Amino acid sequence: MFINFWYAAEESKNLTDQPMHVRMLGQDFVLFRGSSGEAHCLSNTCCHRGASLALGKIKGDCVECPYHGWQYDGDGVCQRIPSMGEDANIPKRAKVDAYPTQEKYGFIFAFLGDLPEDQRPPIMEVREWDKEGWRSTLQRFEFNFNYERSLENSVDLAHNEFTHTFQLYTADKSFAMPEFELEEHEDGWEHGFHLTMPGQATGMRKEVGKTKPGPSEIYTGFHGVSSFRTYIHPLPHMQLHQYFYETPIDESHTRLFFLNMRNFMLDEKGDKMVMKQNATVAYEDRDVLERLRPVITPPINIHETFVPADKPIAQYRERMKVFEAKGWRIDSDEVGRSKDKVAYAIPSPARRKSKGWALDSIPLISGDKTRMPKAAELSVVR
Ligand code: FES
Ligand SMILES: [Fe+2]
Repeated sequence: MFINFWYAAEESKNLTDQPMHVRMLGQDFVLFRGSSGEAHCLSNTCCHRGASLALGKIKGDCVECPYHGWQYDGDGVCQRIPSMGEDANIPKRAKVDAYPTQEKYGFIFAFLGDLPEDQRPPIMEVREWDKEGWRSTLQRFEFNFNYERSLENSVDLAHNEFTHTFQLYTADKSFAMPEFELEEHEDGWEHGFHLTMPGQATGMRKEVGKTKPGPSEIYTGFHGVSSFRTYIHPLPHMQLHQYFYETPIDESHTRLFFLNMRNFMLDEKGDKMVMKQNATVAYEDRDVLERLRPVITPPINIHETFVPADKPIAQYRERMKVFEAKGWRIDSDEVGRSKDKVAYAIPSPARRKSKGWALDSIPLISGDKTRMPKAAELSVVR
């Protein structure tokens, strides 16, 4: 799991007048809205005795700890310590990490890391959001798999004929992947590829009925570490643009937000049909992905067997190594070893400016220790 990316923490509509607990990257966070309505995301561990702030209450612009009533504002700075009386001199150390937030596409995104604003990777853009002629549906799932396995699955078109009942492109499972090239988008934050599939996904053919089977156009690509988008055009004028924001709950559990945009069947009735198909596809993937071994992707590819269709998977792993070399990967083994003894916090941007934090910053895999895979380990077997 990586720090320094934006993660979908919750759906905007679900954060109302109570603090909310969210687990991401194996850590605990509290979301709350102050009196201005702005969404805040703080490390959930109170710096006094370590209580869970999410069990507290909202007081004005602050969240109040349920244990001794310390109040933290949206910047994580303690504004009130009741035991010290009014007009107390609040110690500088009385603060918790606060993470930048953005609300868009119906989500509260939190930037879980310490990069300054101008260096942060972008949030994957939903190009059709609020555009006329498009309709959205949102589904969320929580699955017992590692998010990297799921990202790899998203760019793995060779699995469709076998894992899915709706997404078959040939009736006899004879689809062989054509040659394809990966493209770079979004200043290098996204990698994906276009393919013309031999037919329309059977589910689409059945539901839409009248369309003639013919080639369908596909684009799929991963964005950053845990988002991806898939565009499916069964016919040039019928377009499904699917955006997936995956939030690692921890190394073996993933929260998946599936935002589907479509430019056909624009009434409410269409929602039900699209969501039913999407759920079927998600559960079919889940049944395979929850049983992959090892649970976490192997660090190098020699423990698996690669063929040309796996090129995007090799490239995804290569990209993860690049982010690891920046020192952004959480050392989950170390976190696991100190479980119950140490409460950590994901470092927030304020840690670059001030010292004196009660919680240690989460251990990260040192960038210089990252072993970049040798070309031979990443090369695709032909
Ligand atoms: S533990 Fe939060 S105020 Fe004491
Ligand atoms: Fe799938």
